[in-house]
Amino acid sequence: MKIAVLGTGMVGRALAGRLAELDHDVVIGTRDPQHTLSRTEPDSKGIEPYAEWQQTHPDVRLVTFPEAGVYGELIVNATAGTVSLAALEATGAQNLAGKVVLDLALPLVYSDGAPPELGFAHTDSLGERIQRAFPDAQVVKTLNTVGKDVMIDPARLPGEHNLFLSGDHAEAKDLVRRVLGEFGWPQERLIDLGSIKTARSVEMYMQLFFNLFAVFGDFDFNITVMRAGTH
Ligand SMILES: NC(=O)c1ccc[n+]([C@@H]2O[C@H](COP(=O)([O-])OP(=O)(O)OC[C@H]3O[C@@H](n4cnc5c(N)ncnc54)[C@H](OP(=O)(O)O)[C@@H]3O)[C@@H](O)[C@H]2O)c1
Repeated sequence: MKIAVLGTGMVGRALAGRLAELDHDVVIGTRDPQHTLSRTEPDSKGIEPYAEWQQTHPDVRLVTFPEAGVYGELIVNATAGTVSLAALEATGAQNLAGKVVLDLALPLVYSDGAPPELGFAHTDSLGERIQRAFPDAQVVKTLNTVGKDVMIDPARLPGEHNLFLSGDHAEAKDLVRRVLGEFGWPQERLIDLGSIKTARSVEMYMQLFFNLFAVFGDFDFNITVMRAGTH
């Protein structure tokens, strides 16, 4: 499948690299490819310059957001959540229409330093904002409750840990389930929470997610939902 990953950060790279390994045709969208390739210093999170990563992933093509929108049959939003609407606007509403948008972004605000806060929550979510802004797209919120390494390789953690899906479109969720299955997520561990409104709950998990990060020092963990009678 032709997949456009929007976002050149560590998450976009991890997903794009794995999707390419899985034999998908993958592009990564950025604002300005030349500018992204010209960076020579690690970014604020200490991530190697994109050009260095590109050398080890020559099969992933770096393109502009609108080029990514034209190319992708599936669009993955891995941009900073506070600017995701701008990135998707640049990608082009016409390029998103009728397509599945897998949204894993969190609208994190670091005004008080770490841990970050959500820019909005409780009565709204980024998943809903994207679906409202692009009504012809089919938004599925998922993957935002795990770190990038767990996203693409759930077997790195022991146990029957879970992942959640939120969205209004059943067929879009089916497509996303297939892709998650390719990453190694067993279908029975995927919990469909319901409509895109339920993205509020998985985005609001962010506070526990970052508190656990502060305790463990990494994002190499996940949660398991235990139910009576299932053990
Ligand atoms: N780290 C994790 O394990 C984890 C877990 C769950 C969810 N997430 C979420 O995953 C997403 C990606 O995280 P990340 O750390 O890889 O990347 P990031 O630093 O949050 O975002 C990088 C991307 O945002 C784009 N961007 C920045 N400012 C922009 C603007 N004004 N307009 C349009 N685009 C803009 C950048 O574009 P350029 O390429 O042009 O610079 C870049 O592609 C985030 O929403 C994060 O909350 C991360």
